[in-house]
Amino acid sequence: EKGGYRHFMLKEIEEQPKALKDTMTSRLLEDQDQVILDQIKLGKKELQNINRIFIVACGTAYHAGLVGKYAIERFARIPVETEVASEFRYKKPIVDEHSLVIVVSQSGETADTLAALRLAKEKGARILAITNVIGSTVSREADNVLYTWAGPEIAVASTKAYTTQLICMYMLALHIALELGTISVEFFREIRDALKQTPQMVEEILKHKHDIQKFADHNFNTNSVFFLGRGLDYYTAMEGSLKLKEISYIHSEAYAAGELKHGTIALIEKGTLIIALATQQELYEKLLSNMKEVKARGAHVVAIAQEGHEEVKKVADEVFYIPRINDHVTPVTIIPILQLIAYYIAVARGTDVDKPRNLAKSVTVE
Ligand code: F6R
Repeated sequence: EKGGYRHFMLKEIEEQPKALKDTMTSRLLEDQDQVILDQIKLGKKELQNINRIFIVACGTAYHAGLVGKYAIERFARIPVETEVASEFRYKKPIVDEHSLVIVVSQSGETADTLAALRLAKEKGARILAITNVIGSTVSREADNVLYTWAGPEIAVASTKAYTTQLICMYMLALHIALELGTISVEFFREIRDALKQTPQMVEEILKHKHDIQKFADHNFNTNSVFFLGRGLDYYTAMEGSLKLKEISYIHSEAYAAGELKHGTIALIEKGTLIIALATQQELYEKLLSNMKEVKARGAHVVAIAQEGHEEVKKVADEVFYIPRINDHVTPVTIIPILQLIAYYIAVARGTDVDKPRNLAKSVTVE
């Protein structure tokens, strides 16, 4: 059943190129300047009736929602609030019939997400679900569903569901932006083509998994890891940090790189492992100086950057490169590296990778 793999998690990480392709195939066609969003009616008329967008989810799906906020705000210029489902419900959210509430849930059964969906529905909001499971409670109760065609995800740590959620977020953002006329056809094509390249790039990255394994074999003994990033890289850092924590049981934190010096830098000492994501051109120089700050305090800095960025080698102790791609879509191609780092570190530590302690695949209590 594991198809020759030792763990479902590695199998599912490696299934990502196919999952990404499946999620895009019928929706992003080579020769069409539009997104085909299944049966979802979300045209100009419907969108003009919407003045607020919320994205509500838990855990990994919440991290996909943060990228969704970035994409919708950047492309469509509509303000979006992304909220953890267990918080959303209790803050008397300003939701009404002019709100679009996007719920993201791999399983479609997460109790907090479901409760948030029901609250938003009761207030008259339009509910769009992004889920992986046909017939799940979320899929049945939402007004519209956009499926992530990731296939069954068995390992507790979410991998291919996350990357396909990202693709859905980008497609949705592009669609809304096209309808509202906030992006040009050229920009649309640029992002569409970049998304279409991701399966092949992830395939390329996965070929180098043994380098990541080697890295993990040298570093598994650490007791604290910081993931740093700015902008989109910060959201990817959050997901990378969650993966590492949940399967390796190593304490780790994701930090917005510029915020580190406002307190947390006190924790950096000789040998502290830092994973610095530096893929965003407009924030690159700033990230390099944040790397220097931690390096000066003795940290061991591993950077992830886009190919062609050579200066990063002078600052970091080690660099993993991703193939060059449009900055807006790097979360899809960086996360496989972070998933593999978490995976191989967990394997080296001998944890129960597919069923980490204290966790369940689907959290049905609030
Ligand atoms: C982490 C993980 C969890 C889930 C969260 C939401 O790897 O899997 O954080 O993402 O429990 O689950 P769904 O998406 O099923 O609502």
